[in-house]
Amino acid sequence: MSEKIETLLEALPYIKKFAGSIFVIKYGGAAMEEAHLKKEFAKDVALLKYVGINPVIVHGGGPMIGRLLKDLNIPTRFIDGLRVTDEKTLEVVEMVLAGLVNKEIVKNINDMGGRAIGLSGKDGRLLTAKQVENKEVGLVGDITGVNVDIIKDISKHGYIPVIAPIADGSDGKSYNINADTAAGNIAQALSAEKFILLTDVEGVIGSDGKLISMLRKREIEELVEQKIVTGGMIPKVSCCIDALKGGVQEAHIVDGRVPHAILLEVFTDSGIGTEIIGDE
Ligand code: ARG
Repeated sequence: MSEKIETLLEALPYIKKFAGSIFVIKYGGAAMEEAHLKKEFAKDVALLKYVGINPVIVHGGGPMIGRLLKDLNIPTRFIDGLRVTDEKTLEVVEMVLAGLVNKEIVKNINDMGGRAIGLSGKDGRLLTAKQVENKEVGLVGDITGVNVDIIKDISKHGYIPVIAPIADGSDGKSYNINADTAAGNIAQALSAEKFILLTDVEGVIGSDGKLISMLRKREIEELVEQKIVTGGMIPKVSCCIDALKGGVQEAHIVDGRVPHAILLEVFTDSGIGTEIIGDE
């Protein structure tokens, strides 16, 4: 019993500190694939909202998009981790992301007692974009603007925005945006308290092979230079660094394969992933 009380009391200072603030959460990976993890994620999000935090969810949908493209016999390939996106592919991406995937997340959160609203970046021109530098990838965009009013208004009225990263370009075309980047950009635009990246790894791993629980921005830049942080982790930490530069207080890389990873990170002293904070 006393253990339960301790757990609740450990959460109290964080509930107090974070009430009223915005957390932008990038949702993806195993936490979006496995039935029990989906439910646990939805519960965590509903709980955050009930204790006064304003979660904003930005989601991917890579595997689901890949499956439908395969069923439709549309060939697909990647350049530097970005899906080469022609018009046909973008249609499928938009159908899956803004349709099926988005509404499933909304439903899961609603089933857990939250009130979620699904949006794509096109709704109310929430996100605007331009084509990425590498034109070879086609209709893949970088965000040029975030309409924060929509997100703030929805949140203020007790709803939880769930955002599919598809955006309008100023050239009249539609663009597919990498979900990590979109989430980081949205966190910046909102000056969110936290940017939480759910991944399929424990967090940032040091040269001794162990999880690094806490890092300053400059330390993580050094780990990249020293090639201790490599591969798929580099774009993830870059999103975190950009978010911190843009005024986000703390970025967290947490393991979405762990049930209730978000609550464990946010409401305990030691967390379970890697927390990255600014340099001062
Ligand atoms: N729960 C606290 C917070 O969210 C501390 C988290 C610490 N996390 C870590 N990976 N060291 O601010």
